[in-house]
Amino acid sequence: MDLSKVFIIFSLFVSFSSATTSVIDFCVADFNFPVTPAGYPCRNPANLTVDDFAFSGLGVAGNTTNIFNVGLTEAFDNTFPALNGLGLSMARLDIGVGGVVPIHSHRVSEVILVIEGTIIAGFIGSDNTAYFKTLNKGDIMIFPHTLLHFQVNVGDVPALAFVSLNSANPGFQFTTASLAANDLPTEIIRKITLLDAAQRT
Ligand SMILES: *[C@@H]1O[C@H](CO)[C@@H](O)[C@H](O)[C@H]1NC(C)=O
Ligand SMILES: *[C@@H]1O[C@H](CO)[C@@H](O)[C@H](O)[C@H]1NC(C)=O
Repeated sequence: MDLSKVFIIFSLFVSFSSATTSVIDFCVADFNFPVTPAGYPCRNPANLTVDDFAFSGLGVAGNTTNIFNVGLTEAFDNTFPALNGLGLSMARLDIGVGGVVPIHSHRVSEVILVIEGTIIAGFIGSDNTAYFKTLNKGDIMIFPHTLLHFQVNVGDVPALAFVSLNSANPGFQFTTASLAANDLPTEIIRKITLLDAAQRT
């Protein structure tokens, strides 16, 4: 057997085994305990009902009264505890006319599905190549894990989209705030970002 076949079999084994290592069906988060790298401990299955596995929060538009004109409604483990341990989550994105989801990143990958409106969505590769495109109703796009990405409503009606991410809690790091609104001394920020003090405000 040549090496490429060994590699393919090994890769299949690794991906298959990582998908089948769980010894339980589900692990609805028990918020009485702190979160760990693998998520929360599980609630007693005896106390669960089907309602623990459903979430009804994404039918209502998010509040877009903010400087970005964006409403984000999250179905993450903290609002939908059945996602705990399953490595996925969803969110609803309402972007008012002219609204922007500012450039940000997550720990994981994301897929967006546009339901209404017209947006420009994009991400920046680690070699600084920009990938961006106008998306309309029914279009989907991927933002690969950890890469900086954004969405802008360029249409004349509010945009509605749903996103799914492959973590029960993907995190959200808003790049501009991380660079300019952190607790570091201004002198250190200036050195590590090349931003001057005026640009920081
Ligand atoms: C969960 O179920 C166990 C066993 O059925 C019971 O002893 C316990 O009181 C329940 N806990 C809650 C929070 O309902
Ligand atoms: C939307 O958010 C703004 C700003 O936080 C707040 O003043 C307003 O009451 C909110 N509207 C609703 C309907 O919750």
